[in-house]
Amino acid sequence: MAHIHIVVGSTLGAAEYVAEHIADQLTAAGHTHQLHNRATLHELSLTAHDVLLVVTSTHGAGDIPDNLKPFAEALATQHPDFSEVYFSVVALGDSNYDTFCEGGKYIQRLLEQCHAKQLADRFDIDVTSHDLPEDAADIWLRNWIPLLAP
Ligand SMILES: Cc1cc2nc3c(=O)[nH]c(=O)nc-3n(C[C@H](O)[C@H](O)[C@H](O)COP(=O)(O)O)c2cc1C
Repeated sequence: MAHIHIVVGSTLGAAEYVAEHIADQLTAAGHTHQLHNRATLHELSLTAHDVLLVVTSTHGAGDIPDNLKPFAEALATQHPDFSEVYFSVVALGDSNYDTFCEGGKYIQRLLEQCHAKQLADRFDIDVTSHDLPEDAADIWLRNWIPLLAP
């Protein structure tokens, strides 16, 4: 059983719904989780073998949502040692923007700079191709959940 910290970046609610859906699927698969809608480094208190899953949309001109900014700023300024942390990123975006899923890409770069280890390639959900982004997440989860510690 793994413990997954799900960090949400959402402005209009779509990424939040995806995160909640993933949380339900993780519970069904026998894993535990915590959802963080306005994550801070202090609140996360990651321990070795915990998994960090960031589910974020992109807004503005390639920006992360406001509720993810405190976490991103802490990563950028405090450079916590995440060398024992595994992470994945699920990014929601609209492929009509040049800055497609740039928010998810930015968080990935920050986590890599903190030496976190990526558990799987970032998963980008193009909301123009999926009426329900949760359906895309389900397909991704089929491969991702088996990567978690039993
Ligand atoms: C004002 C605005 C700006 C956006 N900018 C981007 C962008 O730069 N890149 C991108 O991939 N998607 C962009 N999007 C699309 C959103 O990321 C997408 O609609 C996503 O599903 C929103 O998720 P949320 O409801 O969790 O915020 C933008 C959407 C809006 C409304």
